[in-house]
Amino acid sequence: MENLECIFCQKKYPMDIFNPFCPECQEPLLYPSPSKKRKFSLEKTSPLEKFLDFLPLSKIAPNLSLGEGNTPLLNLNRLRENFNFPPVFIKNETVNPLACFKDRGTAVAVQKAQSLGIKRIGTVSTGNMASSTAAYGAKAGLETFVLLKNDISTDKLLMTSMFSPILVKVEGDYGELFYKSFSLGRKHNIYFMNSVDPFRIEGYKVTGFEIFLQLESRIPQYIFAPVSSGGHLIGLMRAFLDLKKEGFIQHLPSFVGVQARGCSPIAQAYASGKSKVKRIKKAKTIAHSISNPDPPGGNIVLELIRENKGIILDVSDKEILKAQKMLAELEGIFCEPASSTALAGLLKLSEKDKLKPNDRIVLVITGSGLKAMDILDPSRINVRETTILSLEKTLDSLVE
Ligand SMILES: Cc1ncc(COP(=O)(O)O)c(C=O)c1O
Ligand SMILES: [Zn+2]
Repeated sequence: MENLECIFCQKKYPMDIFNPFCPECQEPLLYPSPSKKRKFSLEKTSPLEKFLDFLPLSKIAPNLSLGEGNTPLLNLNRLRENFNFPPVFIKNETVNPLACFKDRGTAVAVQKAQSLGIKRIGTVSTGNMASSTAAYGAKAGLETFVLLKNDISTDKLLMTSMFSPILVKVEGDYGELFYKSFSLGRKHNIYFMNSVDPFRIEGYKVTGFEIFLQLESRIPQYIFAPVSSGGHLIGLMRAFLDLKKEGFIQHLPSFVGVQARGCSPIAQAYASGKSKVKRIKKAKTIAHSISNPDPPGGNIVLELIRENKGIILDVSDKEILKAQKMLAELEGIFCEPASSTALAGLLKLSEKDKLKPNDRIVLVITGSGLKAMDILDPSRINVRETTILSLEKTLDSLVE
């Protein structure tokens, strides 16, 4: 019998896939780390097989994979020169199958679903988790239910609909929808693998292991990641907690969770020294993918950040857009605004804290800019117009 554990009351509960929450604390339950010694299987090529000892799975079904993970760690040398920064890298999660880090969590949750003989899966999403879950559900031949926020962009809706899941747009409060999905899931045998699902979170650990190995088993000084519901940051931190537990490292990197100012309930609680997150009324930011006003993993994030000397900050939409453009212009990386918060966070932190020359910094760039074309402003496109006849003259004037 598998258990899940609550990090607040430390109690273990029999795993209930339809309601993975602590009955006492009402907080999301997490997958406990085993007492056996764990190791990497570096001879394997698939990330799930490489880190199988660290995942809540006994074996991997290769036919469920869409090729998630193994993403590059890129050196941002132009940005570094411009700002006189220590080495800065991005973990480029935009090259995952559905152009977003979510695939790593979906891959593990779908493996779990199949091993449990589950036939129906679902998710509640603002967009990225929708397309990821629909695609992996299609590959596994599972009936997939996707409950969407009413204002999802047409692009994200079109992308998700390609996989032919059952799509339901829901008017009403997103936080309420999240919790309601679990009772409906139990009624209809639908495993809702939402943002803080314990198996999804374990999948995000793989990103952390890859970063560690790509830095040749060195610990970065800082890891910046965008935060909305909290699941991703919890997974990244748990990867390094596992590395510490297994004796690979002695201390954790400083994790910096970044929220958009228009939806920053966790950053607000952190700034005022609170241990519990208070939901905000309404999110207002162009970073739509990180606009959960009632983050279910918020209290766990605060706890892990406090225990491990991390930081949560927020950045404005203006700073987010500036960082998005900077990553494209200087480094050839096109990410969505939700993801450029990581760079905006670094720029903000560097104004306050002096970065040391040997600090290594990693920004986790979570999703592709192609997912959020609707936020770009066509009036800002810098394009010259000419004719074939006068093209030579035009280019002559442009070449210095
Ligand atoms: C592109 C992107 N980055 C970051 C996040 C934040 O992840 P989490 O909700 O697990 O905190 C999301 C969540 O949807 C996302 O879509
Ligand atoms: Zn509890």
